[in-house]
Amino acid sequence: MRAILTPLTFYLIACSLGLGAAAESVAAVAYTPSVQACPPGTSLVRQTGSSAQSLSAGEAANVSGRQQVALNAWKGYLANVQAYLNTSQSNASLPQYVDDILSGLFGVGPQPRLGIATSGGGYRSAIFGAGILNALDGRNQTSVEAGTGGVLQAATYLSGLSGGSWLVSSLAQADFPMLPELIFGSSPSQTNDGNAKFGGWLADMDLLTPGGANIIRDAEYLVDIVDEVSGKFSAGFPVTVTDVWARALSRHFANGTTAANFFDDNLPHGAGITFSSIVNVSSFVNHEQPFPIVVADSLVSRTNGSAVTEDGDLVPLTNPIYEFNPFEMGTYDPQLGAFTPMRFLGSPPTNRSTCVTGFDQLAYIAGTSSNVFNGPNVTSAVLSIIDKIVNFLEETFTQTDVRLDSAAVPNAFFGVSPATFPDSDQTVLTLVDGGEDGETDPLQPLLVLARGVDTIIAIDAPADTSDNFAAGLDLISTQARVQLFPGTYFFPPVPNTTDVYLSQNLTRRPTFFGCNSSAASDEPFVIYIANGGPPLGQAPVTNTPTFQLEYSNGELGAMLDQTFGMATGPEKDPDWPACLACAITDRARRTIVASRSGICETCMARYCWS
Ligand SMILES: *[C@@H]1O[C@H](CO)[C@@H](O)[C@H](O)[C@H]1NC(C)=O
Ligand SMILES: *[C@@H]1O[C@H](CO)[C@@H](O)[C@H](O)[C@H]1NC(C)=O
Ligand SMILES: *[C@@H]1O[C@H](CO)[C@@H](O)[C@H](O)[C@H]1NC(C)=O
Ligand SMILES: *[C@@H]1O[C@H](CO)[C@@H](O)[C@H](O)[C@H]1NC(C)=O
Ligand SMILES: *[C@@H]1O[C@H](CO)[C@@H](O)[C@H](O)[C@H]1NC(C)=O
Ligand SMILES: *[C@@H]1O[C@H](CO)[C@@H](O)[C@H](O)[C@H]1NC(C)=O
Ligand SMILES: *[C@@H]1O[C@H](CO)[C@@H](O)[C@H](O)[C@H]1NC(C)=O
Ligand SMILES: *[C@@H]1O[C@H](CO)[C@@H](O)[C@H](O)[C@H]1NC(C)=O
Ligand SMILES: *[C@@H]1O[C@H](CO)[C@@H](O)[C@H](O)[C@H]1NC(C)=O
Ligand SMILES: *[C@@H]1O[C@H](CO)[C@@H](O)[C@H](O)[C@H]1NC(C)=O
Ligand SMILES: *[C@@H]1O[C@H](CO)[C@@H](O)[C@H](O)[C@H]1NC(C)=O
Ligand SMILES: *[C@@H]1O[C@H](CO)[C@@H](O)[C@H](O)[C@H]1NC(C)=O
Repeated sequence: MRAILTPLTFYLIACSLGLGAAAESVAAVAYTPSVQACPPGTSLVRQTGSSAQSLSAGEAANVSGRQQVALNAWKGYLANVQAYLNTSQSNASLPQYVDDILSGLFGVGPQPRLGIATSGGGYRSAIFGAGILNALDGRNQTSVEAGTGGVLQAATYLSGLSGGSWLVSSLAQADFPMLPELIFGSSPSQTNDGNAKFGGWLADMDLLTPGGANIIRDAEYLVDIVDEVSGKFSAGFPVTVTDVWARALSRHFANGTTAANFFDDNLPHGAGITFSSIVNVSSFVNHEQPFPIVVADSLVSRTNGSAVTEDGDLVPLTNPIYEFNPFEMGTYDPQLGAFTPMRFLGSPPTNRSTCVTGFDQLAYIAGTSSNVFNGPNVTSAVLSIIDKIVNFLEETFTQTDVRLDSAAVPNAFFGVSPATFPDSDQTVLTLVDGGEDGETDPLQPLLVLARGVDTIIAIDAPADTSDNFAAGLDLISTQARVQLFPGTYFFPPVPNTTDVYLSQNLTRRPTFFGCNSSAASDEPFVIYIANGGPPLGQAPVTNTPTFQLEYSNGELGAMLDQTFGMATGPEKDPDWPACLACAITDRARRTIVASRSGICETCMARYCWS
């Protein structure tokens, strides 16, 4: 059992350390946004148009660059599948149309445009997501030999939410390393200069109490991370529990922290690394990584004056869902349909000539996407620490009109007035975990028609069941939400009760949705890979609790291995790699007007939900 700080210990230690006093730490300085006049020609609001939506120029250009890279990547993937089929127990050979599509015979146009979504579910979902991405990674020889490697290199988009956002944002900013290196860090050399390298997730150090049994160290740590938000407060920005949470996440999911320097408070520990700075990471510049997107929900119908309030708000599906990408923050949802430049996130809505930079700290975005602290179901151990942080913020920083249990983001869309936008009169957006509306898989950004995604790999690891397995709740929510916006979003039919997912084993092996969508519909083909149970004959290790905030390397390794098995050989089906290739090319097949044949017919019968 982990020792939990009492409020008194925390308070006494904080007082003795003189929190809030003069000297600001390096991290506090680097975490402080700066305020300046906007560069000439800056527009802080881009309206997308509610029906004919448009992408930002940066996204459009870079995604188009990515499509050129994908052209070669699909060829590489095809070679991997063929080599696998030539040597495996599968007797399948791919139909000619699959070869033709993946080898680029028809050019970029009809090639698959693939989006991968990685769900929420705390560390469990981050690890499960990483395990699946590893199985799809063409740089990993084991994945190549298994016949699934290479898909990741050709994916256009990668979206993440909550625990999935930790995976997506750490991967993007660390320059797209291989997944085991992302998680365990690269050995042996780690720089100690605080900025240069990514040191791994350091998952064996608890997210809130990394001091092990050392209560004093934990208290000092909490005091440090609260102190690191003081510069932001002094600069006039609202600070909430999300900021403190962000400073903790930053030590695990942003560059600059290693096991050796973890408690060194003379280092920035990722402060200053912004989400918009991903555009300068070389794998992004070279279009070698998929375009990253992180999702958060919004609490609306709050007045400016709402303080810390009651537990238990579930976010209705009608609320706008916001996305964060390297270029922009905003929403395509027709209630608003507007974006603000990511690098100027946090600019005051009341003066459009003032631009703020440094608000979009990468860990703050991940912290926003994973802020579940307004909800009732946080385990009591975590909640007792979060409560202390909230009390502490209340006592240390005098703020009015700030809801301390959620992210407070200056509302770039203040005064933007489609009548349907509920936060038009709010100067601050109140944002929370992207899964609080029930859509725990961030499919929403992949359904934006302007993005042209026709195939989605939905990686799903929320705790829908009492034993922490998935049961399809997020697909049910996504289907329900799409129906609220007819003509804007499209999603194939999915079962509407968790009973069906469980009784038909749709979460225990990959399942395809949208196999029968008509050619006239814009429904994507969905390849659903859920954390629903271990491969045949194994004891489950991937159903750990959402609020387990610490994992040993042994535990991580076992979870990654089991996930790899789930992604590469479900039910020991030697045809699975061929089936995955059939699924990935099925929408392109329709575009070139070919009929399913051979192994692809068999695969659809085996994996399509009907
Ligand atoms: C608005 O911002 C600009 C640039 O920062 C500044 O020069 C100007 O004084 C501000 N206007 C008001 C009314 O505060
Ligand atoms: C991609 O984004 C960068 C950064 O904004 C931009 O300079 C570049 O022109 C964009 N386009 C391409 C094709 O890379
Ligand atoms: C697989 O075998 C086929 C013939 O059976 C051959 O044409 C092809 O080159 C082989 N592909 C790979 C990648 O080994
Ligand atoms: C492939 O063919 C061999 C020999 O005919 C057979 O033993 C094996 O079961 C077949 N494998 C599959 C997956 O159908
Ligand atoms: C490739 O994936 C396998 C299976 O998870 C893993 O054991 C191995 O370490 C990975 N290889 C590299 C170089 O990361
Ligand atoms: C983070 O570190 C990696 C090396 O581990 C580097 O390639 C990347 O550019 C850094 N990212 C940022 C945002 O500084
Ligand atoms: C990217 O790098 C350029 C050149 O160093 C710099 O001017 C620009 O501000 C950086 N962009 C972001 C969003 O950090
Ligand atoms: C919120 O604050 C803004 C700016 O002070 C004000 O114009 C608006 O009326 C306020 N909204 C509410 C609901 O109080
Ligand atoms: C909290 O947990 C209970 C029991 O598992 C469940 O019925 C309820 O829907 C959950 N509430 C939220 C907001 O997730
Ligand atoms: C689920 O779908 C079936 C068949 O379309 C329908 O009869 C049933 O009412 C739906 N159930 C729920 C809970 O929506
Ligand atoms: C679901 O999987 C279980 C365990 O593998 C098996 O016993 C059961 O028959 C399967 N049910 C269906 C409908 O496939
Ligand atoms: C899709 O079509 C096949 C063949 O026509 C049919 O068996 C299956 O039930 C259909 N599936 C759905 C989900 O409608």
